[in-house]
Amino acid sequence: MLNLDFSGKTAVITGGLNGIGEAIGALFLEAGANVVIGDILCPPGARAVGARLVHIRTDVTRRGHAEALIACAVAHFGAVDVLVNNSGVSAMGRLESVTESEWDRVMAVNAKGVYLISQAAIGSMKRQGGGRIINIASQAGKNGYRLMGQYVASKHAVLGLTKVLAIELARDNILVNAVCPGIVETAMKRREREEGALLRGLAAADILAEDCAQIPLGRTALPADVANVVVFLASPLASYMTGQAINVTGGMTMH
Ligand SMILES: NC(=O)c1ccc[n+]([C@@H]2O[C@H](COP(=O)([O-])OP(=O)(O)OC[C@H]3O[C@@H](n4cnc5c(N)ncnc54)[C@H](O)[C@@H]3O)[C@@H](O)[C@H]2O)c1
Repeated sequence: MLNLDFSGKTAVITGGLNGIGEAIGALFLEAGANVVIGDILCPPGARAVGARLVHIRTDVTRRGHAEALIACAVAHFGAVDVLVNNSGVSAMGRLESVTESEWDRVMAVNAKGVYLISQAAIGSMKRQGGGRIINIASQAGKNGYRLMGQYVASKHAVLGLTKVLAIELARDNILVNAVCPGIVETAMKRREREEGALLRGLAAADILAEDCAQIPLGRTALPADVANVVVFLASPLASYMTGQAINVTGGMTMH
């Protein structure tokens, strides 16, 4: 039976204050779930901001924060049914001149963060008999893009982690999948366009036009386009899917 009712279920979303994560949180709330947002931009501590919504300041690169995020979800709502590893950062520059600190920052948030937060959630999911982990990777986890070396490397790492966790956790009824968005209209994308335009001597509008020309559906994505697929992957409709990397790219990436 078609069931997209998440009443009584709890979804933890990293980086959920803005952009794609914000849309994912809104859709889970609409579907009836309890939602815990862990974001580095949350005010210090944890606070209930609605009957079914908690915010907790979380830096996904720190193990103590990862453990506190999961403990907070369990304390408020009793369980973690869905974990969405969404937080991410990007930076533009030719790989030959990327600094070590830029490399470390992007790899720490995008790749190490997925490892730390997933590890913190696994015990709780095992105890309750299963769960879903959904990693927001990127089509940059499948292709190379100029000026995005450390980001591309970090997103390839996310797809690797997704595959291994899917195999290792399958018998615990924890399904692990990734979503690979294409070009999504968020603050991150707008910043990338401006930085890319400067580096390439173009206008940001030229880069948007260049982007749209590569997308068969002819438009960039809205955060909700990605959120829809995340909620599907968390739902009973996706109960025979694990270890997958699902493109939400308007056809820009097809493999
Ligand atoms: N926008 C795109 O075109 C696009 C495309 C493919 C993949 N993605 C991925 O989607 C995810 C969301 O991106 P977005 O475009 O919504 O970005 P965004 O910058 O709009 O939002 C990212 C959120 O992550 C939070 N964050 C950053 N560092 C953090 C940390 N250390 N700990 C906790 N939270 C942290 C930020 O505070 C912010 O709220 C990222 O993983 C990104 O790589 C985005």
